[in-house]
Amino acid sequence: MNVLAIYGSPRRGGNTALMVNEALTAFPREADIHSIFLSDLSFTACGSCRECKTTGYCVVDDDMQRIYKEMLWAEVILIGSPTQFSDVSADIKKMMERTWWMKGELKNTIGGYVVTGRRYMESTINTLQAFMLRHRMILGGSGALGYTFTEMGILENDPLALQDAKNTGMRLVEIYHLIHN
Ligand SMILES: Cc1cc2nc3c(=O)[nH]c(=O)nc-3n(C[C@H](O)[C@H](O)[C@H](O)COP(=O)(O)O)c2cc1C
Repeated sequence: MNVLAIYGSPRRGGNTALMVNEALTAFPREADIHSIFLSDLSFTACGSCRECKTTGYCVVDDDMQRIYKEMLWAEVILIGSPTQFSDVSADIKKMMERTWWMKGELKNTIGGYVVTGRRYMESTINTLQAFMLRHRMILGGSGALGYTFTEMGILENDPLALQDAKNTGMRLVEIYHLIHN
């Protein structure tokens, strides 16, 4: 089972990472899990050069090339995003834009997400779901929201959050087995 975990928060050890890590505990030992911290990477938003319209792939030579390889390798993609100004983090949005050329390439990849924030999280959820559905991914998970304020590790204010994150991971594993058995 090839699993790609994408950490979308600027804070490597923040609330979002706690949620992603908890979801990952649901995966079996034999799962091959690759992790990408977007904040460690250097890549631009889509510049709308539209080269991909003729080449069929993105020609921009930055760290997105590494993410493309990982996405194409993955059978399950788990994305974690904090809510920032009522939507996904800027890194997640940049990453999504840059997958414009991948039409059909992620079809039937199983996708799930975990989200943190305190309020106005609806658009974050909507953006992540729209990303997965537009790529014709199989949207899984069970909906994991961590109610947090701004401090690091404050997730314990929401006792259900980690359980929901784990349930999300479990559901992704369940869907994987439904498809692959
Ligand atoms: C620039 C910025 C904007 C934010 N906007 C919102 C918001 O609109 N709604 C919300 O609930 N939380 C918002 N937050 C709070 C974060 O979503 C919350 O603290 C989250 O748990 C941070 O995740 P992290 O610990 O992984 O960085 C914002 C935080 C930052 C830094």
